[in-house]
Amino acid sequence: MIIVKLGGSVITDKKRENRARKKVIDRLVREIKKSKKEIILVHGAGSFGHIHAKEYKLDRGFKSRNQLKGFHITHSSVRILNQIVMSSLYNHDIFSVSLPPLSFVEMNNGKLKYIDLKCFEESISIGLTPVTFGDIVFDDELGFSICSGDILVLNLSRYFKPEKVIFVIDEDGIFDKDPKKYKDAKLLREIKYDDLPVAEKSIYTDVTGGMGGKIEVIREIAKEDIDVLVVNGNKRDRLFGSLTGKKVKGTLVIGG
Ligand code: IPE
Repeated sequence: MIIVKLGGSVITDKKRENRARKKVIDRLVREIKKSKKEIILVHGAGSFGHIHAKEYKLDRGFKSRNQLKGFHITHSSVRILNQIVMSSLYNHDIFSVSLPPLSFVEMNNGKLKYIDLKCFEESISIGLTPVTFGDIVFDDELGFSICSGDILVLNLSRYFKPEKVIFVIDEDGIFDKDPKKYKDAKLLREIKYDDLPVAEKSIYTDVTGGMGGKIEVIREIAKEDIDVLVVNGNKRDRLFGSLTGKKVKGTLVIGG
C-alpha cells in the first residue's frame, strides 16, 4: 500500500479563498486509478483552510468566542473541498470513505496525542480507499488546534508501514534552497534523510509550517525505513510514474 498526500497548493488556488482546482484533482485521481495501486489518500486544505485559520488565529487555540465562527467556517470549508475530492474519486470508480480527523485524532498543545486508526483498518480490509485531510480538531489544552495532513501522513505511515509515501506538491521536489525565492536553487534528486536541508518558512499564508514543516515530517517518515517521493502535481504523469515505480523528475528521500 502507498500513502499519497495531495498538497493544498496543488488542488486549490492557495491565494483565492475556497477555490478548488477541479481539473487538476480529476487528473491526479485519474493517475491514481490508472496505477491500480491500493492507497490511503490524504489531502491538504489549501485556500479552504489556511486563509480562514489565519484570519481567526485558530493556530493559537481557543482564546475568544469569535473564533467559533472561524472554527465553523474552516471545518465546513475543508469538508467542501473533501467533497470535491470524494466526487472525483467516485467518478473514477475509486470507492472511498471520508474520515475527518475531528473524529479520530486528539491533540494536546498543538501536538498529536492520540489517533484511532480502526476505521482505516476496517476500510482497507474490505477494499475501500480511506481518505482524510488537514483540518481543525479538538485539543485538550488549547480547546482546538490545527492538524495538518502531513502529521496525519506521518502517523499513518508509522502504523501501516506503506511501501512508500508520495507528497504531491506545486514544485518539482525538494530544493537546496527556496525555489520561489532563488533562481539558482538546485533540485535534490535523491537524498538520505539526514542530508535534508532545513527549509525556510513558506512565503504563502500557512498555519502549518509550510515547506519547513513538511521537510521535518518527511525526515521522520524516512527514519521509519520508508522511501518518500516528492513530486510536482502540476506536471502530468509524475504521480502516476511515482506510484508505478518509474523514474520521474522529483526528489527521492531514501528511508533507512
Ligand atoms: C491544513 O492542512 C489544515 C487547515 C489549515 C485547516 P495541511 O497543512 O495539510 O494543508 P496544505 O497541504 O498545507 O494546504
